[in-house]
Amino acid sequence: MGRLVTVARTTDIPEGDAVGVEIRGERIAVFHYKGRFFAVSDVCPHAGGPLSQGWAEDGRVTCPWHGWAFDIAPAEGAPDDGLKRYRVEVDGDEVKVEAPD
Ligand code: FES
Repeated sequence: MGRLVTVARTTDIPEGDAVGVEIRGERIAVFHYKGRFFAVSDVCPHAGGPLSQGWAEDGRVTCPWHGWAFDIAPAEGAPDDGLKRYRVEVDGDEVKVEAPD
């Protein structure tokens, strides 16, 4: 299990919003969606669009460039959609993301 890195305070990311952060050179989009926090690559698998500038609705994150959408938290065993996801923990008011290897 990788090291958890504090990327924001919970209040820094309003419900329904996202921020882009960088950990160990990887751009990561952190979403606050329906009271929980999720982290996915901020580089869209299609053509590199910034998912942190997209939006989350109906359980999916939509890329602002061409509208590809990805499950924010795919079900166990779901087919690989090419989008990297990162473990998130909330510790008090700190949003922590597992650093990539
Ligand atoms: S770059 Fe994301 S849909 Fe095209």
